[in-house]
Amino acid sequence: VSQESQDVLNAYEWLTKLYHHLLRHTKEGKTGYQYLIDRGFTDEVIDTFQLGFSPNSKEFIVQFLEKKGFHPQTMVKAGLLSMNDQQEVSDRFRGRVVFPIRNHLGKTVGFGGRSINNQEPKYLNSPESELFHKGRLLYNFDLARSHIRKQEEAVLFEGYADVISAYAAGVTNGVATLGTAITEAQAKLLRRYVDTVVICYDADDAGVQASYKAAKVLKKAGCTVKVASMPNGMDPDEFVQQNGAERFRKEVVDVSDTYMSFLMRFLKKDYNLNLEGDRIQYVESVLDEVALIDRPVEREHYLKELANEFELSMDTLTQEIMARRQKIG
Ligand code: GTP
Ligand code: MN
Ligand code: MN
Ligand code: MN
Ligand code: MN
Repeated sequence: VSQESQDVLNAYEWLTKLYHHLLRHTKEGKTGYQYLIDRGFTDEVIDTFQLGFSPNSKEFIVQFLEKKGFHPQTMVKAGLLSMNDQQEVSDRFRGRVVFPIRNHLGKTVGFGGRSINNQEPKYLNSPESELFHKGRLLYNFDLARSHIRKQEEAVLFEGYADVISAYAAGVTNGVATLGTAITEAQAKLLRRYVDTVVICYDADDAGVQASYKAAKVLKKAGCTVKVASMPNGMDPDEFVQQNGAERFRKEVVDVSDTYMSFLMRFLKKDYNLNLEGDRIQYVESVLDEVALIDRPVEREHYLKELANEFELSMDTLTQEIMARRQKIG
């Protein structure tokens, strides 16, 4: 690590501690603390994830860093502070609850700041930088890594709050992307530690659509993919807060769909299976997916399902698969 990177890491560490201290122990942080308590986050959770608050002041954080010997210009360049058109330097997270984003070594390399008064955007993340690559980092990977190994499974969430609530509920093998779709690099990183990844995204249209895309990326990286689902409109954080840890495990994580059953359900949405044309198109789109499966036993399993559901012969379906697999090569 270069001297400059080391300085930036030190600044991040100071800031993590300061934000956390402000939230936990000061008048200035009270609104942030109350916000988290109202959401059901306990002191223990707040401490484990070093959640913090940035006071609604233009100078406070800048002055703190300056007093610690960090130059504002360097901090701006590194993405720690922001600068407006008038060349004024300030903390972009002011007035927000701050989620430190740690790298695999547990060092803070960025923050996510959540507004607590409906201010848009809801979340603001540190900008991309030398140390903060949103497409390569996974939120909570440092804490989850050993659990992922032991449990031989990782759970992929959409948001920081989901990871934290799940962790507090005993689902300690959860990670999240940093507000973006999962990248090939992130999928490969997970694959280095584990075979099975359970996608546990929000139960809304965006979440289901994102699950489909994430499933494809993880599959391509060689993962066994499962997809969890929840009651409509909920996200994992809400589910845990409302229904508790045990129900989250039993009704969501442990009963997640296999990749193919998720896919079939997902593809079905686009068709009206009462119509002959739609039925054929649906079967063909499923066949496209089955053709990609490498294990013959698995392929046959899904072909039988299709054969039963649509009163098709196994011969026909098998021929269709052979044709497709020849094309793929
Ligand atoms: P809470 O409302 O705090 O529970 O957040 P959430 O995680 O449920 O939010 P949501 O499902 O809307 O989004 C999931 C993740 O996407 C968040 O954790 C953020 O990382 C990211 N995200 C959400 N809203 C924004 C936004 O306005 N801007 C950016 N850059 N990222 C966002
Ligand atoms: Mn503490
Ligand atoms: Mn969402
Ligand atoms: Mn959500
Ligand atoms: Mn949420």
